[in-house]
Amino acid sequence: MSEFATLLIDGKEYKLPVIVGTEGEKAIDIRKLRQETGHITFDPGFGNTGSCQSAITFMDGEKGILRYRGIPIEQLAEKSTFVETAYLLMNGYLPDRESLTRTSVMLNDFSLLHEDMKFFYQNFPSKAHPMGILSAMVNALRSFYPELIDLDEDVNRTFLRIISKVRTMAAVAYKISRGHATVYPRPDYSYCANFLHMMFDNPVIPYRMDQELVDALNVFWILHADHEQNCSTAAVRVVGSGKVNIYAALSAGISALWGPLHGGANQAVIQMLEGMQQNNLTPAHVIEKARDKTDPFKLMGFGHRVYKTYDPRAKIMKTMCDKVLKKLQINDPLLDVAMELEEAALNDSYFQDKNLYPNVDFYSGIVLRAMGIPTKMFTVMFAIGRLPGWIAQWREDALDPNQKISRPRQVYMGETIRDYIPMDKR
Ligand code: CMC
Repeated sequence: MSEFATLLIDGKEYKLPVIVGTEGEKAIDIRKLRQETGHITFDPGFGNTGSCQSAITFMDGEKGILRYRGIPIEQLAEKSTFVETAYLLMNGYLPDRESLTRTSVMLNDFSLLHEDMKFFYQNFPSKAHPMGILSAMVNALRSFYPELIDLDEDVNRTFLRIISKVRTMAAVAYKISRGHATVYPRPDYSYCANFLHMMFDNPVIPYRMDQELVDALNVFWILHADHEQNCSTAAVRVVGSGKVNIYAALSAGISALWGPLHGGANQAVIQMLEGMQQNNLTPAHVIEKARDKTDPFKLMGFGHRVYKTYDPRAKIMKTMCDKVLKKLQINDPLLDVAMELEEAALNDSYFQDKNLYPNVDFYSGIVLRAMGIPTKMFTVMFAIGRLPGWIAQWREDALDPNQKISRPRQVYMGETIRDYIPMDKR
């Protein structure tokens, strides 16, 4: 393998260094390209652009591989907990028993919200989307906790405070949206159990904790915990690169995640399946619409920028979905609609030719419905899961001595110079 790539422009050769990652991925280093050649690259959507060197998550889209800090997602989903996986992502190694205990203790210590924050919630219109509320509230956290972050702490106060409070904030948003009293966390519950408790307990019908659902929530959040340089993570890094505080960077990530092409797809999938059910649409109808180039409709929960095979997270999600529904004896007709649609799409030449497979969002909504999570909260569930990844990526960026402010260039296609025309001559 050559150490350089050769670029020929107007008969002149330029040698560009090639960087090789630990898994063999090759990148042409163009950092000096404009300085030496006067040219820039053009890559809308950044499908061919590496924006950083990272040691957090590895994906192989052709083989359907996902690993956090080297550990396969399948092993983490089977053996780890969300809290342990969060530690792994943020620090780069699995915690020993003492560190894990300290992490859990700190998550418990930080789980209350400042009571003044409740006034913020009460002033959002009742129909406000919880993702908009969450993004605003995370940004607002900065005014309550303005202290500097110690980036060297492994059991990191600031990071754990965010991870703990965002979970409480999400549950409070739900309770307030229903007009119910908020429920405080319990010190004897784990991170995931506490979320279900804060969401669903109430004074007249106490919530019966089901370990099956707690386990499912652990897996759900592990599957969402990081996914290298996706849209929201890139947003966190880009915004963070201006050296803004972490709360503002995470708030930008939450906003980016909200979109239906990204994390908002889990809500959009369920709405699509419900629409099929209500209007008696067959999979063939929906697939025809997705194939139609004149129609902006996309088959929600299908396709991925990186995966050109079955998303490994979707495989685990589907298995978990079957298990949870069976164990809880829930018969969700939307699961049948989803399975029929998946089969039809996987056998359709359009989807086969373009390598479009189910992604993590295709089955995740059915699992969330089984837990009792309302559709409007689905993307919030994704956001809570993605927090450790965003934090790990923000930290990696903050510690990288070579990192610069993110500032892409453009190819200008507008008017060339022309004179200002006074109003009476236009
Ligand atoms: N339905 C119909 N056609 C599709 C779909 C789909 N779901 N996804 C991609 N295509 C087509 C696309 O129109 C394009 O066609 P052509 O080559 O004729 O222009 C071709 O497949 C290649 O796709 P692309 O748009 O270049 O792919 P992308 O990498 O820019 O977009 C995506 C990736 C995820 C935004 C897209 O597949 C999509 O919109 N999927 C539906 C929304 C969704 O499920 N999003 C969740 C993604 S996974 C979780 C997450 O990231 O949060």
